[in-house]
Amino acid sequence: MNKLAANAVKALAALGLGLALTSSVQAATSDEAIIERIKPVGEVCIQGDESCGGAAAAATASAGGARSGEEIYTGKCAACHGSGVLGAPKFGTSEMADRMAEKGLDTLLSNALNGFNSMPPRGTCADCSDDEIKSAVEYMVNGG
Ligand code: HEC
Repeated sequence: MNKLAANAVKALAALGLGLALTSSVQAATSDEAIIERIKPVGEVCIQGDESCGGAAAAATASAGGARSGEEIYTGKCAACHGSGVLGAPKFGTSEMADRMAEKGLDTLLSNALNGFNSMPPRGTCADCSDDEIKSAVEYMVNGG
């Protein structure tokens, strides 16, 4: 390699290093821009999650609207309580009202929510809110 060629190689190497440095500086300064550009457009907000804005949580809660006690009973509880499966207090008889008189609504409700002997927690209704379960219990106590 002659001297001219060697100098040319050094010059190119220096240039290359310079470019590399420049581009890493640029990368550092544009990180924020990239984060800004790729950040999510929206965020999933689980109801009751404290990191969600209050307004968002309220909107989620009111989006579907609570179902009535009758709707919950018919859709979720009647399978057992309609005919008294496994000894479930039968709807349309005084059985639920009798339990209400004996234990009070709070106990019936907490047993409906948490389960009680063969009564499964929430009557297996995973998407029922506490209020909806309460409406269903009241509907059953009142016998329809
Ligand atoms: C898989 C059958 C089944 C389903 C579905 C079911 N229940 Fe029950 N439930 C029972 C049985 C069995 C009992 C009686 C438990 C006992 O007294 O030992 C019972 C008892 C209850 C009681 C009385 C608890 C107490 O303290 O005496 C309430 C209230 C109740 N169920 C509410 C509901 C509601 C509300 C739903 C629907 C959201 C529901 N159940 C769905 C089987 C069921």
